[in-house]
Amino acid sequence: MNDFNIRNATIIDGSGGPAKQTDLGIKDCRIAEIGQVGSADSELDAAGNCLAPGLIDTHAHDDGAFLKHPDMTFKLSQGVTTVVNGNCGFSAIPLDNNGDVSKGSGGILAGIESGFTDLEGYFSAVLARKPAINNMMLVGHNTVRSLVMGSQRRAPSSKELSAMVDHVDRAMEQGACGFSTGLIYRPGRYSETEEIIELARVAQPYGGLYTTHMRNEGDRLLEAIDETLKIGKEANIHAHISHHKAAGKQNWGKVKSSLEKINAALATGQQISLDVYPYTAGSGRMIEYFNLDNINRQLAEVIRLASCPAFREYEGRMLKDIATEKGIDIVHLVHEILTSPKGDRTICIQFIIDETDIETNLRWQDMMVGSDGIPDLNGSPHPRLFGTFPRILGHYVRDKQLLSLTDAVRRMTSLAASTFGLNQRGLIKQGYWADLVLFNPDTVADAATYDEPKKLATGIEAVFVNGKLAYRNGEYTQSGSGQMLRYKRESYKAL
Ligand code: ZN
Ligand code: CU
Repeated sequence: MNDFNIRNATIIDGSGGPAKQTDLGIKDCRIAEIGQVGSADSELDAAGNCLAPGLIDTHAHDDGAFLKHPDMTFKLSQGVTTVVNGNCGFSAIPLDNNGDVSKGSGGILAGIESGFTDLEGYFSAVLARKPAINNMMLVGHNTVRSLVMGSQRRAPSSKELSAMVDHVDRAMEQGACGFSTGLIYRPGRYSETEEIIELARVAQPYGGLYTTHMRNEGDRLLEAIDETLKIGKEANIHAHISHHKAAGKQNWGKVKSSLEKINAALATGQQISLDVYPYTAGSGRMIEYFNLDNINRQLAEVIRLASCPAFREYEGRMLKDIATEKGIDIVHLVHEILTSPKGDRTICIQFIIDETDIETNLRWQDMMVGSDGIPDLNGSPHPRLFGTFPRILGHYVRDKQLLSLTDAVRRMTSLAASTFGLNQRGLIKQGYWADLVLFNPDTVADAATYDEPKKLATGIEAVFVNGKLAYRNGEYTQSGSGQMLRYKRESYKAL
């Protein structure tokens, strides 16, 4: 007897192959039968809807959200059943017992508290809260470096380097999928290429990844790609470029040249992959983007505030509108915000990307999708937090026909699962974990906008996580069946 049967759905199995209308049975967390299915405790007639493997967010900053918002509604409601966390060099671990991770992560990892020091401790803490979805972790360079060296602007001593190596190694040993950097951020930006190569090498024996928010995504994008390829090559490790983009008007179109460089590297046999988010605005910690002694006016003009603990009334507004209203210079406004108490925790949204570049990225054969959402639900977050995946399925697949539905699903499921080492996930296949999303291909769409960023997507009919119905009729079912995943291994089980 199955736990659940889904009848008459159009099954898109995640392989990229043709869709097929048939029945599927779930039993004991797994996909038990496809085609002829026996009886079940519950059934759902899904005629007219598509059933796909649960979507995988390859680029998330939900390390803290798993503790603070274990319902993970902002991801679950998009059909996402697994996220890869610890990106851009910021991870929940390692942490020392009295450590304040928010110092190192600058508000990106909202919600982290102490009580654990390593990956296993973090995994147990999350599992105790019964999370809705699955979590795969990277170990972040900024976090490791802050822990070992504070905010030192120099190369590590050999003793410091070996302490960093030990932290990365321990995380890999406990199941992280790789080592991430955020080389525009502090303190990552103080590191030289050699340091990164040494640390990426630690992930190599585990077959892990090196993922990177590169040193530059604008004027020096191509040099940053060269650095990434060099690190991948010298550490002999799969390099994954996060949120591939060309930032700033003067750089629009450059993603073509960077994809050419990547194609050339792939042709030599180097392992390299990428993800993108489907929006023309980025988002991050505002203080990282400005030099307070020489504030970039052009950048300030295209910024909107997401979270602004110093001035909550500014949230959701463009800096230029606030400056006009107050009758002050925008440069002055930026200075005032960033130097106020808690000003360093301001998260901004910057409109710096060209739509054509997003399309170029999505046309690239193996482009994956990562939300890069920053889960500060108090403010007015970038809509990518709630909208990324339905936006791909609705806007880019159905409306713009930029890629086919089966291929889009492949990139958001099996391709992501094989790249990030998610065992027996990412395909609708007998014996695989029953992570599934049922959606209406005619209505699936993102509803979150810059003005209303927390609106749940439409057309996501049901989501299953490890065989349990987790989302139905626009609501989380309190299933709590998410697992803590370990790279290419079985999931972590709390003692
Ligand atoms: Zn990033
Ligand atoms: Cu990121």
